[in-house]
Amino acid sequence: MKILLVVGARPNFMKIAPIVRAIRAWNGAHPDRSIEHRLVHTGQHYDERMYKAFFEDLQIPPPDVDLEVGSGSHTFQTAHVMLRFEKVCEAERPDWVLVVGDVNSTMAASLVAVKMGIRVCHVEAGLRSRDRTMPEEINRLVTDAVADLLFTTSRDADENLKAEGVPPEKIRFVGNVMIDTLLAQVRRLSDLGLRPLVAPGQRYGVLTLHRPSNVDRREVLTRLLGAIEEVARDLPIVFPIHPRTRKMAREFGIDSGFRPLPEPEGRLDPGLYVTEPLGYLDFLNLWKDAALVLTDSGGLQEETTALGIPCLTLRENTERPVTIWEGTNTLVGTDPEAIQAEARKALDGRGKAGRVPELWDGRAAERIVAALMEEGPEG
Ligand code: UD1
Repeated sequence: MKILLVVGARPNFMKIAPIVRAIRAWNGAHPDRSIEHRLVHTGQHYDERMYKAFFEDLQIPPPDVDLEVGSGSHTFQTAHVMLRFEKVCEAERPDWVLVVGDVNSTMAASLVAVKMGIRVCHVEAGLRSRDRTMPEEINRLVTDAVADLLFTTSRDADENLKAEGVPPEKIRFVGNVMIDTLLAQVRRLSDLGLRPLVAPGQRYGVLTLHRPSNVDRREVLTRLLGAIEEVARDLPIVFPIHPRTRKMAREFGIDSGFRPLPEPEGRLDPGLYVTEPLGYLDFLNLWKDAALVLTDSGGLQEETTALGIPCLTLRENTERPVTIWEGTNTLVGTDPEAIQAEARKALDGRGKAGRVPELWDGRAAERIVAALMEEGPEG
């Protein structure tokens, strides 16, 4: 059986790593039924810090194919992935194309495969924010509409898919591959002896912000950074900044409150400290000991729930409601008063306790590989 594994952007890399590992483990255990696989990177993210650092940290082998698509409008990225990926599919003729998450590359590769009669499986299917202004929501809807096998991270995702008419036999609730990576890397951290970015014992918060709806409009980004700088009067906040956000804050002239992060293990006064995007391990080493995480990321809502760290999500909706129902996540939107009030609550120890959702146990990728082998190469 032959599979093409597709990744494009930063949040894909931690989802593919355990799948590559599980395929290798399968091949070791079943030499007579081994899985031939190729890793295709679309090149949607290409920077050292947005891409290479992740492959290294997560011990992902270098991609077999790099489509080198780069930045551009959504149409540009989608179209270029499609044109270039079609050639790869023609040359490789895989039985399956496996896509993860919800980025433009996920949707583009799925469309190419399904039109060529190649079966598609989608890892992290069925998540819905119900906000169609969010590019990822369109990517999720399109990908799930054409996929042949849909792997979900939570039961609500199964229900979303069924409500959209996906036959139940195509849906497999397997758990969360992102948490596979998290649990494996947390274990590894203790052996690596990385230098902490912040002095041990110091209380601090972590911020990430990159959604177009939050960072591309002057009034929203100004309001958000204003609220966060207020929270940072009590609690130093470390902000590894996405290239998009840095560019917009500079353009709007609202980056004067940004302070550079001192040398590793430095003591921080209250304030908002900005650093370049961090690799997976440095970032994990930072947020795992945070008193509070503020974010508009999808993945971090799940990761903080898995480690029991209070998380305030700076969005009006989430496609990951299980982190609210069961985890440590609270939706606060972009209202400064709500952000400050919820931050205070979390810091006073009145935040949510939370528990780890079902099957977020570090073995999702194993279940995915077993399910694929059960399906086999034939339709
Ligand atoms: C993409 C994904 C989003 C994901 C995010 C994580 C889509 C629709 N969006 O958004 O779901 O949460 O990645 O980071 O697929 N840039 C660089 N270097 C890079 C990549 C980007 O400098 O390696 C800059 C470019 O100026 C680019 C901007 O960041 O225009 C935005 O990058 P893009 O890939 O278009 O979208 P993201 O906002 O990163």
